Amino acid sequence: MPFFVSRKNFESEISKRAAEACDQVISQMGAELHDDLIQKLSIFRLYMDRIERSSSDPAEIETLVIKMKSDFEQVTRAVKNLSRRLLPVRMEGDTLIKMLETLCLTMEHPGTGHVHFSTEGDPIPMSEQVEMHVLRIAQELIQNAFKHSAAWHIWVRVQWQANKLVMEVEDDGSGFSRIPEFINRLKKKNNTLKMRSQAIGASIDYRQGTKGLLAKLILHTNR
Ligand SMILES: Nc1ncnc2c1ncn2[C@@H]1O[C@H](COP(=O)(O)OP(=O)(O)O)[C@@H](O)[C@H]1O
Ligand SMILES: [Mg+2]
Repeated sequence: MPFFVSRKNFESEISKRAAEACDQVISQMGAELHDDLIQKLSIFRLYMDRIERSSSDPAEIETLVIKMKSDFEQVTRAVKNLSRRLLPVRMEGDTLIKMLETLCLTMEHPGTGHVHFSTEGDPIPMSEQVEMHVLRIAQELIQNAFKHSAAWHIWVRVQWQANKLVMEVEDDGSGFSRIPEFINRLKKKNNTLKMRSQAIGASIDYRQGTKGLLAKLILHTNR
């Protein structure tokens, strides 16, 4: 952090960016409601009309019911997904692992994007503030993977070592050739990933993963 930036300014800048990110998520959810969920629900009106018209054709009705069941499943999943995202991230007594697990579930895009979570070792207790920064870093990395790389799978791996927390977020989205360019952009940009890592004294590093980008956060702690 440059010496002329006070801690207070630094923190208010992080809050400002966090609020912007929050607005973005709300708009995304609004768009999902409007373009996806309402679309899916209006199809049911058509189904009902078709059932009415096919009253003398049991085979046709059966086909329609099968389709309706599968569409209804999708509607339920979409509503569940939206409602999970509206819940507060931290419930009383939640550990960082629990919050990360919930985050990974919440950020899944049913059918198109999977977020896998794993953890190894004994969790190290940390302050609530540090945990929230780690959580938001994970959230932004997952968001980036979906937004910029067309990933099908994202792996969030947490390792608790003797005196440090290592968190990796890897996606399978980008072609090899463009990764160096993305890494360059991420390193140059003064984004919330950089700011939050600095705020908690962690390092964040990007490299080529097996199929996409691999981000690694290392946070030294005194157990
Ligand atoms: N997982 C990723 N795969 C490919 N490119 C990425 C990934 N994450 C980030 N990038 C690239 O790095 C840039 C900077 O990311 P970021 O600082 O989060 O800004 P923003 O998401 O607002 O564009 C992105 O615009 C994108 O080009
Ligand atoms: Mg981003």
